[in-house]
Amino acid sequence: METSRPLSFSADIRPLFTDVDVSHMKQAGLDLSTRDSVASNAEGILSTVRSGAMPPPSEQRTWSKDKCDTFEAWMKQGCPP
Ligand code: HEM
Repeated sequence: METSRPLSFSADIRPLFTDVDVSHMKQAGLDLSTRDSVASNAEGILSTVRSGAMPPPSEQRTWSKDKCDTFEAWMKQGCPP
């Protein structure tokens, strides 16, 4: 994926999270559905998806390098909405 173009939460980041991710992580106290909540927890989210800790390995849908790079590029752009 092209990561140098301007990214946005609604178009590029929100679709990376499934409904299952959002509902389970809401129960665990992290809202993956809003820009502000993802932006304030961005470092932690990036490290769990890069390490493969989240989504849980048992679900066998660990993020590709491409997805992780897109998330990181969005962070570096200042987490635009
Ligand atoms: C700061 C980042 C995160 C932390 C600290 C975190 C922590 C946790 C914790 C404590 C649970 C509950 C485990 C359990 O009750 O069995 C959980 C569940 C889950 N998380 Fe995360 N998580 C993070 C980010 C994410 C992200 C970014 C995703 C998806 C891309 C994700 C997907 C899930 C899913 C699908 C579950 C449900 C697992 C299940 O019930 O089998 N999490 N997470």
